Amino acid sequence: MRIETTIATTRRARLALPGPVGFVPTMGYLHAGHLSLVRAARRANASVVASLFVNPTQFGPSEDLATYPRDVPRDLSLFESEGVDLVFAPTVEEMYPAGFTTFVELEKLSSRLEGAHRSGHFRGVATVVAKLFSIVQPDRAYFGQKDAQQSIVVRRLTADLNLPVEVVVCPTVREPDGLALSSRNVYLKSDERQAATVLSRALFAARERFLAGERDAEALRQLVRDTIAAEPLVRLQYVSVTDGETLDELDAVERPGLLSLAAFVGRTRLIDNVRLED
Ligand code: PAF
Repeated sequence: MRIETTIATTRRARLALPGPVGFVPTMGYLHAGHLSLVRAARRANASVVASLFVNPTQFGPSEDLATYPRDVPRDLSLFESEGVDLVFAPTVEEMYPAGFTTFVELEKLSSRLEGAHRSGHFRGVATVVAKLFSIVQPDRAYFGQKDAQQSIVVRRLTADLNLPVEVVVCPTVREPDGLALSSRNVYLKSDERQAATVLSRALFAARERFLAGERDAEALRQLVRDTIAAEPLVRLQYVSVTDGETLDELDAVERPGLLSLAAFVGRTRLIDNVRLED
């Protein structure tokens, strides 16, 4: 496995790889969700490239950039054991040198759901993903359904900018008790970890109600609110029922929808979602 920290050497190493090339962008502190993306990339491509970069432009000023969990040696050894061919692990200066001024913004999509609560987040995500696609030039790129809005944003920007990359979205990986895997789960104290299971329980209960025929979006949102209200360590920030592509908020779920939420478990902010479709 090659590890490169500069754009120039990464481009050269990538050109020497047999195609098709699958790409898994990450911010490190890998868990089984990331590894499922690497495995999907490994199965479908001749070569796999991964990136390891905690992207500062997608964190707000009051967010957890400084404390975001990191363990580069462990990440590299996991990538190696999953058969990754090339890792791009740049510094912040390599990605954002002095004079950097170009950002990618998506109208509407970026300001909904997560974007409404994390101003500038998707501007940072879209910018770094566009840069990573330009540097790595993958045939396919792999993202998790856990960050549903991110996948939708990346699909849109790839189409709008005519980037020749197929965006593949892989299912959310969960703990046996339902908690969606996230690098931020490491922040949870043991009582919070237990309490956090209410998030997936609430989403699964609402999806059951949907599958049983409920189409009223507000009834589904209310079921999530009521389920989470019973857990004192968890504070729901938003629950939303939207169109699965445009992220327009729905009154009735008559086309494939997305039920998503963000909540604080103690001081840790977690997100999760399920798709609403027959
Ligand atoms: O999902 C992530 O880890 C990040 O948002 C990504 C896609 C690597 C961009 O920094």
